Amino acid sequence: MLRVLLLLGGLAPALPAGPHWTYEGPHGQQHWHEGHPDCGGRAQSPIDIRTARAQPDLSLPPLRPQGYESPPSPELSLANNGHTAVLALPPSLRLLGLPRTFAAVQLHFHWGRPGQAAGAEHLLDGHRAPAEMHVVHFDAERFPDAAAAQQHPGGLAVLGVLLEVGDDPHPAYDNILRHLGSIRYAGQTVAIPSFSIQDLLPAHLDRYYRYNGSLTTPPCFQSVIWTLFPQPVLISQAQLEQLQGSLYSTEEAEQEEPQLLVDNFRAPQELNQRLVLSSFPREAEGYSTGEVIAIIFGAVAGCVGLFLAVHFGARRMR
Ligand SMILES: *[C@@H]1O[C@H](CO)[C@@H](O)[C@H](O)[C@H]1NC(C)=O
Ligand SMILES: [Zn+2]
Repeated sequence: MLRVLLLLGGLAPALPAGPHWTYEGPHGQQHWHEGHPDCGGRAQSPIDIRTARAQPDLSLPPLRPQGYESPPSPELSLANNGHTAVLALPPSLRLLGLPRTFAAVQLHFHWGRPGQAAGAEHLLDGHRAPAEMHVVHFDAERFPDAAAAQQHPGGLAVLGVLLEVGDDPHPAYDNILRHLGSIRYAGQTVAIPSFSIQDLLPAHLDRYYRYNGSLTTPPCFQSVIWTLFPQPVLISQAQLEQLQGSLYSTEEAEQEEPQLLVDNFRAPQELNQRLVLSSFPREAEGYSTGEVIAIIFGAVAGCVGLFLAVHFGARRMR
């Protein structure tokens, strides 16, 4: 079993990752809180964002990634940790536009299974996109690394990017997806040529939802400032199928049949008392037909009432 590979791996040295967990079955998400008490907390992620209930906060600034276009190292490390594909990111990649300066740690993916176009973790009004990318950062002003930061509220900042299917392959995503065949089994790692991480992000970094939540996998620490972009990034159907069909959750040496790594997304969690902010105003809301009729009726009734009051009320006073 994979006890030595943290989800925040690639950065952290091989720390013990705690009890074995899966998404379904006897170690599935309903049981995560038994070994990881935070997974049963009241500020968990992901959530289903009810967009009409998000509160606009126009003081939320655009996110400003710095150094994402050209990572300093010629190669980046891509790993299969048995739960997802993880690309380690150098901490020289800085994210501004948050309360403090955050440094990049890694990015990874959540997806469904072949033939099923739903595998994202965050939902928008109940809609589940085919896949979601998370770019994980830690507060570099208060903490030396992600392992220390993840224990404290606001210690991590994660960007959630929804992936939808479009007509064309996305060249930046191809930089990762074409190497999945080299990390088919859990525990495998490959060095891939460096590329612009910025190109994986949606164009509008000023439009996002913001809430306080958690890691979506054990140990589920409630330390994450979440940013979810409503604008998806489009990849091709073939690219989605690469993500869904390339990796095993099992190690190469295991005696059992290899298990395809699929459906690695957590069910939506209760919002409880939390607030979801949006960096942009509510869509201009048109009036429904019923509202228009009510407004006209109200105006007519008001005019008639005024006429009667002036006419007869005044006459009675004489
Ligand atoms: C998140 O928590 C911090 C610290 O408690 C708080 O200042 C901030 O307003 C919260 N953000 C949201 C979106 O609720
Ligand atoms: Zn994730």
